This record gives sequence, C-alpha cells and structure tokens, in this order.
Amino acid sequence: MAGELDRVKDDIRRRSDIVELVGQRVSLKRAGRSFKGLCPFHDDKTPSFTVNPEFGSYRCWSCGAKGDVFTWVMETQRVDFFEALKILAKEAGIDLPKFGEKRGEESLDYEAAMIEALAFFKEELGKSPLARDYLKERDLDEETVLNWELGYGPDIGEALAMRLKKKGFALPECKSLFLVDQDPSGGYYDRFRSRLMFPIRDERGKLVAFGGRIIGTGIPKYINSSDTPLYSKSRVLYGMHKAKEAMAKGKRAVLVEGYLDVIACHRAGVTDAVASLGTALADEQVRLLKRWCEKVVVLYDSDAAGQKAADRAAELLTAQGIQVKIALMPDGEDPDTLLRTQGPGAVQKATERGISPMEFRIGQLKAKFDPASEEYWREVPRVLATAESPLELQKYLLPIASEYPGIRDRNAATKALERMVQAERKRAAAEKSGRTWHEDVPVAHTIQANEELLKQLIGPERVILRALFEPMLSAAAWKACGLPHLFATDAGARMAAAALLVLEKPPSGNPSAWIFEIKDEDAAMAFTDLGMGEDNEPVTEEALAEAQERLLRAAEHREARELAASADSSSDDALRELNDRLRKLKGDQ
Ligand code: GTP
Ligand code: MN
Repeated sequence: MAGELDRVKDDIRRRSDIVELVGQRVSLKRAGRSFKGLCPFHDDKTPSFTVNPEFGSYRCWSCGAKGDVFTWVMETQRVDFFEALKILAKEAGIDLPKFGEKRGEESLDYEAAMIEALAFFKEELGKSPLARDYLKERDLDEETVLNWELGYGPDIGEALAMRLKKKGFALPECKSLFLVDQDPSGGYYDRFRSRLMFPIRDERGKLVAFGGRIIGTGIPKYINSSDTPLYSKSRVLYGMHKAKEAMAKGKRAVLVEGYLDVIACHRAGVTDAVASLGTALADEQVRLLKRWCEKVVVLYDSDAAGQKAADRAAELLTAQGIQVKIALMPDGEDPDTLLRTQGPGAVQKATERGISPMEFRIGQLKAKFDPASEEYWREVPRVLATAESPLELQKYLLPIASEYPGIRDRNAATKALERMVQAERKRAAAEKSGRTWHEDVPVAHTIQANEELLKQLIGPERVILRALFEPMLSAAAWKACGLPHLFATDAGARMAAAALLVLEKPPSGNPSAWIFEIKDEDAAMAFTDLGMGEDNEPVTEEALAEAQERLLRAAEHREARELAASADSSSDDALRELNDRLRKLKGDQ
C-alpha cells in the first residue's frame, strides 16, 4: 500500500495549502472550520463551494465537484495526474523520484502502460503508409491528428505486446487494461490491430482507454476498451476534456454519436461536442454533463437507430433536469460527412435546428401514423405524458385535441385528452415506480450514493467515524472501527471497513491523505462530507465513549435476537444460554 508514490503524494498534500491554491481562482471567505466561495465548476448564485484546509479538500454542495489539491490542478489546468504531481511538487519544493519501470504502485503502472501504448500508436501512425492514406481518405489533416492524438495499431499481431514487455510492463496488467489479450497457449497479442486509434481521456485529461476503427472495411468497425481498472465507460464522454470549458461558458453541450463526429464538430467550431462511447448514454454520463452545462443538444443520425437513441437520451437528460433539444442530422449524414461535404457552417447550423423532445416525439408519431387513424390517437396520450411540466402539457393539449376528426367542442376534447394523459401518466408511474411527476418545480437533483450512505448512518456511528478526524481521539476511533459487529447499519460497517483497509494504524495528520486512498468511492466521498459538514462540532472524548457504549449495547441486543431466532427450541442448552444472555442484558440497563 505505502508505495513511494503514496509518500510523495502525502508530502505534497501536507506542504500544499489548498486554501491558498483555490484562493488564486476563487474568492474565499472563512466559515467556521472551512472556507466558502462561489463554485468555479458551475454557475453558482449562492456560495456552495467549500474548501476545508484540515481535509485538504474542496467540495461543491450544489454540483458535486470535489477533490484535493491534485484534482484541483488537474481540473483547473486540464492536466493529467502526473502533470499535476509535477506542478505541485515544484511549488512545494519537493524533488520527485523517478517513477515508471518500478513495480509496486499499481495504478501508476497502469497509467504508464497506457501512456506507453499511446506513444507506440502515434509512432506507428507515422510509419504506416496505409494508415496515412486512410487519414487522407477521411480528410484528417496533420493538425487534427496532433490535436486528437490519433494513432495506428499495426497489423503485426504482437508489436505492442513486445514493446510493453520490453519497457518492463507486466503483460497480465496490460491485459486488464485491454491493450493485449492472451491466446489459448498463453501468448500475448495486441487487441487493436490494423486500426486507427482514438485515445480516450476522462474529463480531467487522464488517459483511460482507447477506441480503434478498422482501416477501411471490416468487422467489427470499432473496438473500444471494455471497463478496466482505469476506465468505466459509463463515466466517460469522448472529448469531454477538450469540451468542458466551452460547455461551462455556453452552458451547453452537443451530444453526438461517434469519435469522428466529435472531432468533426470541434473542427467546425462546435467545441462543446462530446460522445458516449459505443454505448447508449448512461446516467453517470448525464451527471458528468450536468456539472458543466444546463442544456444539451442531441445531434444524432436521422436513421431509425439514431431516432430511438435520441429519444432515450432525451429521457435520461430531462430526468436529471437538463434542458434538451433534439437536432437530427440531415438524412444519411453525420457531423463528419457534413463537415466534409458542406463545410463548418453546415455543422454549426445543424446544432441550431433542435426541437424539444415533445415536438420531436409528436413529429415521429405523425410520420408514423395518419392523424385520422385510431393508432395515432392511441399513441398520443403516451407521448403527451412525457411532458416535462404541466405547463408544457398545456401547450400541446389544445392544438392536438383540435385535430381530432369531426371534433365540435374543442374545450371538451381538450379536457378528455387531458384525462387520458393523466391516466397514462399514472400507468407509466406504476410501471416504473420511482419516477415522479414534478409539479412546476424543476427536477430535484438526484441523491448520490454517498449521500445515501450518510443518511443511513445512525448518530453514534457518525460520532465514531468523525472521531477518526480528531487527532486526540483517532486512535480510539480507529480501534472502535475494528471491533467486530459494532456498527449497526450496513452503511456504517461499510465505511468502517473502507477506512480500516487503508489505515494500518490509527490515522494522524491530514485526513485527506487516507480518505483519498479509499477505493470505495462512495465511502470516500461520504467521509469527506462527514468531515466537511457545515454544522460539525468537534467530537469530544465523552461523546465518543458514549457512542461506542450505545453501539455495543445495540450489538448485544442484535446478537441475542439472532441467537433467539436461530435457537433450536428443542435444545435445552441453547435455551439456557439465551435466557442467560437476556437476563444479563436486562441487568445491564
Ligand atoms: P465512421 O463510419 O468511420 O464515420 O464512424 P462513425 O463514428 O460515423 O460510426 P457509427 O456512426 O457507425 O458509430 C458511432 C459510434 O458507435 C462509433 O464512434 C463507435 O463509438 C460506436 N460503434 C460503431 N460501430 C461499432 C462497433 O462495431 N463496435 C463497437 N463497440 N462500437 C461501435
Ligand atoms: Mn461517420
């Protein structure tokens, strides 16, 4: 656990002043043990951004941005982890040891292996006439190649595998990174062969995956990294690290389907374009977008698959309170072909032709059915039921009701249609319970897993976990975390276990040092929130002792109950033991 990198990170955290660092960009005011200011990651009207010097962390209570000195530098200067490490080390006057070939620090090796692979793909692109021809065919000029770090995975079966091995990387690790695979005899071969390579960086710029398009035709057209230790495809959007600033400025994102579409959009000046990666849009990607923008233009292909995907994406985006416009491409085009055939202006225009999801759905319905047909009227309430607000619904009720064949009384027809819509909404709500209809209020922000954890904790558990941050009490709290079955809730047990996994001894010094090592992300975030909470009074020794006492009692009760439940009533021994325990518990109180 305690590799060299950990020591350096620790040193840097101790010597960097997060308040000073953040204060260079955000004006901060002291508020209790923390500092407050306007969040730089979203358009903040009231100060929801907190910086806690004891934790060495920042956190926005509104958009969810969070992190330590490293993530701060990564996000605000758009550099990867190693770059941030260098910048901070320099400021703190710390000499960085040479990292790289050495084993031991896993994620370090992972990142280094990815960086080596990228260097390899870039070199190969320079060497391959075949790949250069393909670039020409697709109008990808030198600037674009450099900008998007395009590369080439050669057709030789194991060129990358050999390179990685030569550089001292363990091939089993490279396999888990989706760079190489193993044949039945155990030999390693390259995953990406004869492919144009697109490196995939997360929103902070960290290299996490690759996508590879076959040169020419072949199946599969694209190979994308599966989830790896560095990469979860539902959390990353292609192009995000380049698009996020434009997004923050214009409060808008353009969502397209593929790698080449993102690149084409950026070349056309639409620099807020991103794409999900060979999969449908995921909730976590929506959350990521929400941190940077308020509006999303869904710019998908106009074919049936594109329409369906756009409808679904709109549903996910609106569910999280993002304003959506659907702008389908002209028939048979995607942003990449449009740029090449009609130039940048046409791509920009395409992003401006968006309509609301409701209009889009009604349009689809009209294209599919005759408005005089029964099918049409069967589908209408279902579509209207997707209205984002009563206001939006009202806007469509009257005009659509007026289309009803042979209608006399438009108002009566509107009322009737409204009733059908309400019934449909009820039916849909019953089907997916959990989704709610929001009267006038904007969609509430979704509760995140870490908030859920915190909510589950009971008081005494909070006290013990918070005592981990108190220098005088951390040893006792640490011991308490190690007591078997002490914690009453799953959330408490999970957080205690997560802390113990990274704490070989009682914590001392800056809590962020160990919190940021916790692999269970929700638990780590819950710890940060716990420590940075606004109303935190320091935990006292008495409070800690009392909390532990209460939990111990509750644990004994639980045990007695479990024993009772499992006691074989025919067994005298078990009965006697149970009675003994119950008597003891009663006597205790
Ligand atoms: P070109 O055909 O080269 O212009 O690429 P494109 O991006 O226009 O391709 P398409 O519209 O067919 O696909 C959009 C995106 O879906 C791609 O960028 C990939 O991320 C993904 N995708 C397409 N084909 C495949 C495939 O065969 N496998 C996987 N995993 N993803 C694919
Ligand atoms: Mn294309």
